[in-house]
Amino acid sequence: MAAPVRSKKSYRFAFRSSVYIALISTMVMAFLLWSFNELNWVVVIVTALTLFVTSFVTLQIRIDKFIYKKIKKIYDDVELLESSTLPSYPVTTDMRTLTAEIEKFAKDKKIEIDTLKIREEYRKDFLGNVSHELKTPLFTVQGYLETLLDGAIDDKNVRKKYIYRANKAVDRLIYIVKDLDLITKLEVGDLRLEKQSFNIIELIQSVFDLLEMKADKKNITLTFDIPYPEPIMVYADKEKIQQVLTNLLVNSIKYGNEKGTTEISVENLVKNKVIVRVTDNGEGIPAVHIPRLFERFYRVDQSGSRREGGSGLGLAIVKHVIEAHGEKIFVESAVEVGSEFSFTLEKSSSQIEDKQ
Ligand SMILES: Nc1ncnc2c1ncn2[C@@H]1O[C@H](COP(=O)(O)OP(=O)(O)O)[C@@H](O)[C@H]1O
Ligand SMILES: [Mg+2]
Repeated sequence: MAAPVRSKKSYRFAFRSSVYIALISTMVMAFLLWSFNELNWVVVIVTALTLFVTSFVTLQIRIDKFIYKKIKKIYDDVELLESSTLPSYPVTTDMRTLTAEIEKFAKDKKIEIDTLKIREEYRKDFLGNVSHELKTPLFTVQGYLETLLDGAIDDKNVRKKYIYRANKAVDRLIYIVKDLDLITKLEVGDLRLEKQSFNIIELIQSVFDLLEMKADKKNITLTFDIPYPEPIMVYADKEKIQQVLTNLLVNSIKYGNEKGTTEISVENLVKNKVIVRVTDNGEGIPAVHIPRLFERFYRVDQSGSRREGGSGLGLAIVKHVIEAHGEKIFVESAVEVGSEFSFTLEKSSSQIEDKQ
C-alpha cells in the first residue's frame, strides 16, 4: 500500500496574479475618476482591496480544483509505475518544486534504464561466450564419433585413440560447465562460504601433489620458496581456497616455460593477515592485458589457436572467491620474465594468539 499523498499548497501564484489584477484595474479606475475630476481615494482603496481579495480567492480555488487535481493525477499515475519513489513527496502546485521533482524522477529512471541496458548487454555477452566455449569441444566429440561411425570403429589401430580423444573433449566440456556453474553462483551471490581454520601449508602441499603429473609433463617444478616446518593456520573456506590455488597453479603450468619453476610463499602481512604468493618464470603477461585479466572469458591469446584450452574463467573465479572472503588479489607480471599472483587471507585467531 502506498502512503496517502500529502499535499503542499503554494499561494504565490494566486497572490502575485491578484496583486497585478488589483493594481492595474485600480490604476485604470483611478485615472478615469481623475480625468472626470471625481477622484476619491476611499473608493480607490476599497476597490483595490476588494479586487485583490476576490481575485485571490477565485484564483486559488481554481488552481486547487483544476491544476492541483490534474497534478495529483499525474502523481498517482507515476506512483502506479513506481510506488516506492514518489509517495513520500508532497503533491505541490508550486511549479519549481514540481519541476525539480520530475527531473529527479526522470534522472533516477534513466540511471535505472542504463543499469538494465548494461546488464542486458552483459547477459548477451555471457550467452555468446558460453556457446562459443562449448562449441569447440562439442564439435570435437562429434567429429570423432562420426569418424568412428563411418567405419573407423572397425580399425583396431585408431578406434581406441579416437574414443580416448572424444572422452578428453567430454572431460573438457564438463570442466567448462563446472566453471560456468561456479561463476554463476559466485556472481548471483548464491555461494555461502564455509569458513574454518586450516593449515594453508598443508593445503598448498596437497595441491602440489595433485598437479604433480601435469607439471612433470612440462618439467615444471612446484615448490615452496623456503621450507615451512610450522603450520600456518588461516580462517577461510578451504575448498574454495583450494580452487584458487589450483587455478593459479594450473595457469603457471599452462603459461609456464618448459623446465620452469613455480614457487609459493606464505608471509605475514599485518597482524591478522597472511599473503600467499604464486610466482612463475613463464611467458608473462603484457601490461595492456593486466587490467582486464580477471574478467570472465578474457584471455591474452584471443586467437583460436590457443595451445592450451582453459575456460577463460579461472582468474574470474579466483577473484570472486578472494573478494567473497573480503580479501584482495594482486598481479604483477613482466613479459619473458614471469608472473606473480598474490592474495591475502585472514589468520586463524588461534594463530594470532600463538604468536603473541
Ligand atoms: N601465470 C600466468 N602466466 C602468463 N599468463 C597468464 C598466467 N595466468 C593467466 N594468464 C593469462 O590470463 C588469461 C586468463 O586466465 P584464466 O582466467 O585462468 O583463463 P584460461 O587459463 O582458461 O585461459 C590466460 O588466458 C592467460 O593468457
Ligand atoms: Mg586458467
